[in-house]
Amino acid sequence: MREHQTLSDISFSVRRGQALGLIGQSGSGKSTIAKLVLGLAKPREGAILFEGKPVTPQGLRSFRKRAQPIFQNPMDALDPRMKIGDQLMEPLLANFRLPRSERLERIATALQDVGLSLEIAEKRPRQISGGQAQRVTIARALLLEPDLLICDEPVSALDMTVQAQILNLLCELREQQGLSLLFISHDIRAVSYLCSEIVVLHRGRIVEAGMRDDVLLHPQAEYTQTLIASVPKQSQRLPSAAGADRPILRELTDDGGPQ
Ligand SMILES: Nc1ncnc2c1ncn2[C@@H]1O[C@H](COP(=O)(O)OP(=O)(O)OP(=O)(O)O)[C@@H](O)[C@H]1O
Ligand SMILES: [Mg+2]
Repeated sequence: MREHQTLSDISFSVRRGQALGLIGQSGSGKSTIAKLVLGLAKPREGAILFEGKPVTPQGLRSFRKRAQPIFQNPMDALDPRMKIGDQLMEPLLANFRLPRSERLERIATALQDVGLSLEIAEKRPRQISGGQAQRVTIARALLLEPDLLICDEPVSALDMTVQAQILNLLCELREQQGLSLLFISHDIRAVSYLCSEIVVLHRGRIVEAGMRDDVLLHPQAEYTQTLIASVPKQSQRLPSAAGADRPILRELTDDGGPQ
């Protein structure tokens, strides 16, 4: 079989406690990068470094605990037959030796951290909304005490208002728990809302990378300029969870997004 090459010369770093946004159109190679980072695909050349050291096949298991994926469709990530509480119990049983009371306590804390009440534990996925399901997958990731969340289009399947709520949640988790985020999206508004650094991908290559404001206010690459120009003026603001508008592209307003 002919080897398929999707990506060339890809190099970027996610700094501890920071959110890095990876943006590009469909087919630009974003999910391929997520797979490479998660060790689900092998790069032909180069390496994935975590805390400065290459992730080896032997180190993959512990790396995968510390780097948790969040995907586009939360319903695909949940078992339709199992109660949410049991699905949250699984990673704890598989990874920690804890008394039952402590496991229950951790689940309660994780649910609280993602803004869900304890009652959801008794429900099955079909009984909850898409936004709630994405909160559950984030809670399940948090139970493994990760340092990094690799989010591949985590809000693209959700309604606009719910998107804003999940983006706010990811912001809070970064700020309050010091989580690092690799946030992958085709939506420059979501990336500009959440991320302090932006990498722009086009046809498998990085065409631009830098701090959010530099990239958004002074885009150098033609492709980035097109991307920014394509955002309709009226949707350059995304409603926040509280209902008040939060700025997305900062040149439109003095009020900045999260730092
Ligand atoms: N194993 C493979 N063999 C052949 N082509 C592949 C393979 N994996 C990915 N591709 C192609 O590589 C390109 C990049 O795919 P990828 O899924 O990474 O893009 P993406 O940026 O995540 O797109 P989307 O926004 O639609 O999710 C696409 O054109 C895809 O069809
Ligand atoms: Mg993708």
